[in-house]
Amino acid sequence: MAKFSAVYFVALLVAVSGAAHEEHSRTKRQAYTFPDGFLLGAATASYQVEGAWDEDGKTSSIWDTQTHDKNYLIADHTTGDIACDSYHKYDVDVQMLRDLGVDFYRFSFSWPRILPDGHGNRINQAGIDYYNKLIDLLVANNIQPVATMYHWDLPQNLQDLGGWPNYVLVDYFEDYARVLFRNFGDRVKYWITFNEPLTFTGGYEGAYAHAPAINAPGYGRYLATHTLIKAHARAYHIYDDEFRADQQGKVSITLNVDACFNYQNTTEYQDACERQQQFEMGLFANPIYSAEGDWPAIVRERVDANSKAEGLAESRLPVFTPDEIEYIRGTYDFFGHNHYTSNYAIPYDGTNDPASDQKDHGYYLTKDPNWPGSASSWLKVVPTGLRYQLNSIATRYNNPPILITENGFSDYGDLNDTGRINYYTSYLTEMLRAINEDGVNVIGYTAWSLMDNFEWNQGYSEKFGLYQVDFEDPTRPRIMKESARVFQQIIATRQIPEAYRT
Ligand SMILES: *[C@@H]1O[C@H](CO)[C@@H](O)[C@H](O)[C@H]1NC(C)=O
Ligand SMILES: *[C@@H]1O[C@H](CO)[C@@H](O)[C@H](O)[C@H]1NC(C)=O
Repeated sequence: MAKFSAVYFVALLVAVSGAAHEEHSRTKRQAYTFPDGFLLGAATASYQVEGAWDEDGKTSSIWDTQTHDKNYLIADHTTGDIACDSYHKYDVDVQMLRDLGVDFYRFSFSWPRILPDGHGNRINQAGIDYYNKLIDLLVANNIQPVATMYHWDLPQNLQDLGGWPNYVLVDYFEDYARVLFRNFGDRVKYWITFNEPLTFTGGYEGAYAHAPAINAPGYGRYLATHTLIKAHARAYHIYDDEFRADQQGKVSITLNVDACFNYQNTTEYQDACERQQQFEMGLFANPIYSAEGDWPAIVRERVDANSKAEGLAESRLPVFTPDEIEYIRGTYDFFGHNHYTSNYAIPYDGTNDPASDQKDHGYYLTKDPNWPGSASSWLKVVPTGLRYQLNSIATRYNNPPILITENGFSDYGDLNDTGRINYYTSYLTEMLRAINEDGVNVIGYTAWSLMDNFEWNQGYSEKFGLYQVDFEDPTRPRIMKESARVFQQIIATRQIPEAYRT
């Protein structure tokens, strides 16, 4: 009996530890495996890749103006006149996407290519044809189109009317959105109204900023934001009213937010991080995604108090009427999130400063010198920041489906881009932890970018591509980088490859 027991015990132990081992490697494998139905894709944006800036009836956007008339703002004085020449090489782009094996391609429409006057009066058929060819080729290759309506290239003639601070753009955006839904909504099922309002409204906060580089600190961003949020809601409602029943797609917005870490581990620094989340994310997200709607309370309070102290009769932050709050609240089908990096927020008392957004939010941002860098000064590699930020979104806005619409790394264009491989694999690992361990509802992930392209005020000096593009060669040849091979493997296996598991 004793002997039998011992043998039995040993056998049991082996069986149990075998099962435990199997269980352990199963959970380990699971931890590095994407959930069923998870979407993987790559992204670009019209101005950054298309070129053909004045071809076939397209008029100027504010980025044509920025690069042509204010080229001192562009690090290498380059333009997007030709960029990757995707206007002529979209078939090559689709072949690259096929080779990667992506589920979807996120691209953006150029408003002045489709509506040369900015208004719905005159539709440029050549522009419609171009996007039809691109979308048809994607669909034929089983790649879902994910389309951004506005990725920063506002028609210059609408900027001449004041651009986003002018509320009439709500109506003009409605006209534009309707043209897009009507022409492409039979095939496009994921729509993003605006890409990164935090970034492009910065174009109204300083003369050295992104286009249109208007120097209206403390006013420009809030006025532009007030308009674009109403424009977003308008597009969402016309989709509901006129298209959703037939087209059955999803409409949302993409917000970029860096994670914020508590530098001194004190309440004061924690509060600065809370302000960073509310001024950088809540400003745009609270009206749309929160249960109560409207601007975040802390933003309302701080801008009102500063405006009063500055002797203004009205707050620099515009007011939404109760009807508008209701109209805007809940106008989403998912949360589009662009994420790249993290910061510390250092409390800052700007009481005596002239009006500025920094005075209002009361912090400045800094980086940890130990965080590994990239080719971009603002982009330090902090993979845990993605997990932190995904949790922040889930907690604040009732765990919406999150589509990561951009995530990526810059270098100087090497084909053996080990920094990018490390970035993608480590950020994806942290994203999987947010899904598996924290229960965050992430439905897809988009690599920025499919290929090297025109990086706004940095020109071609910083490269984000999975594919290298030779900008010296008129034919703009594309070459697959090592990171593209790893991404290809990730898509094929739906796992983080063993070599990159941490
Ligand atoms: C931060 O402060 C809290 C409360 O004082 C403490 O429990 C925690 O260990 C601190 N964390 C770090 C990383 O210092
Ligand atoms: C890329 O660089 C890494 C690190 O220097 C090296 O180990 C690897 O062999 C290189 N890969 C290729 C394909 O050259």
